[in-house]
Amino acid sequence: MNTAPLSSPEAVVIDGKAAAAAIVNDVREAVEREGIVPGLAVVLVGADPASMVYVRNKGNRAKACGFLSRQIDLAADASESELLRVVGELNADLAIHGILVQFPLPRHIDPQRVIEAIDPVKDVDGFHYENVGRVAVGATGTALVPCTPLGVMRLIGQASGGKLAGKHAVVIGRSNIVGKPLANLLLQESCTVTVVHSRTVDSEALCRQADILIAAVGVPNLVKASWVKPGAVVIDVGINRLVDAKGNASLVGDVAFVEVSAVASAITPVPGGVGPMTIAMLMQNTLDAARRAQRHDR
Ligand code: GUN
Repeated sequence: MNTAPLSSPEAVVIDGKAAAAAIVNDVREAVEREGIVPGLAVVLVGADPASMVYVRNKGNRAKACGFLSRQIDLAADASESELLRVVGELNADLAIHGILVQFPLPRHIDPQRVIEAIDPVKDVDGFHYENVGRVAVGATGTALVPCTPLGVMRLIGQASGGKLAGKHAVVIGRSNIVGKPLANLLLQESCTVTVVHSRTVDSEALCRQADILIAAVGVPNLVKASWVKPGAVVIDVGINRLVDAKGNASLVGDVAFVEVSAVASAITPVPGGVGPMTIAMLMQNTLDAARRAQRHDR
């Protein structure tokens, strides 16, 4: 017997895989139509197993889009100056329009120094100060915007029918890669934005005010149904690997998916929500960088 109350609607599950596939398809078609060959270089230092998978996936997706794809592998003990030399060569290479240095880097390398060495017009991660600044002042048309926040904005636009102005968006997490750029992008769309973080007093009450709630903290199942306003759009950026008592591993987000689905109007699953969008937006950023290089503008 179904004991769920009739008044408890199930949220629409936002299909990030399908949205990402549509973007990748558009990128591939644009490459063919425009006769352009975007070049993406991904640099991997060391042999972290997760990073190796991510880097391989990025390369495969780039090839599927008709890009020139290059992977540069450096040993785990490669020096910072060696990495900076590789970045310098890629900056000067006219066939390369996007450069991504995979993180995390070994501890002896300063990641910020590496980011700042990448030519900002090739910074497809959107991490360089110049791109961070452009996003902060709302110059998104000339910036390279970080891939995950860009993907999240696409999913929010889809789930909200594009009507974002005046909505209260609450972002959980203040990272430079997700929380902060996302807050700026939401502000740019005229949302009222609250950022909650580890030192916030009563995060739950603030989250309960959100029309759009985005969790990006890396705490498994942090967001419970009681944190969510009925009808809210809930976006889960968390990807947490849990291992149970029997040693079985599973991926879970920052949102308690089942209970929140009974309250939200739309929700992203983990996996299959935001994750696939990140790589799709990397392809979009690389195409944009190649188009700008062809036009000799930003
Ligand atoms: N490692 C995990 N995610 C990312 C990302 O988005 N960019 C880079 N460069 N490294 C990562």
